[in-house]
Amino acid sequence: MAETLILSPALDRETRYRELLPQIAATVAHESDPIANLANIAAMLKEAFGFFWVGFYRVLPENEQELVLGPFQGPMACTRIAFSRGVCGACATQQRTIVVPDVEKFPGHIACSSLSKSEIVVPLIRNGRTLLVLDIDSDTLNDFSEVDAQYLEEMMALL
Ligand code: SME
Repeated sequence: MAETLILSPALDRETRYRELLPQIAATVAHESDPIANLANIAAMLKEAFGFFWVGFYRVLPENEQELVLGPFQGPMACTRIAFSRGVCGACATQQRTIVVPDVEKFPGHIACSSLSKSEIVVPLIRNGRTLLVLDIDSDTLNDFSEVDAQYLEEMMALL
């Protein structure tokens, strides 16, 4: 069974990632089902940072050019995203983390909510293939930096 998430109050973001990552590692180590783990990770990130939307889009074997909505926390979102579309599609095809400081300036950004202002998308790659992406939306402009990219990539490597 997963441990209860323990959060210290008022930590800066980097310190909070350092506190959170071992808890995510322990949670993942205790459960072999990937959907259960993705669901808990989305919940932990949402609770730790209060992001507007945190979730995963998966590549399913029947169509490797499309992302399908997976476990998430936040408002309802679009269910399918072609690899050719949006920040998530760009991340899946370019196979690198994409930080978008202002979503209105990203050509082709898919607005699931007008409240979303900035975004980070991190891929999980295995044997050259994109398996899934983590998408985090913030209701604040310019909310993501190299710090988020570094720790979220580290977290994805736990999967
Ligand atoms: N904004 C994303 C779509 C997913 S939602 O933000 C949850 C994109 O442009 O790919």
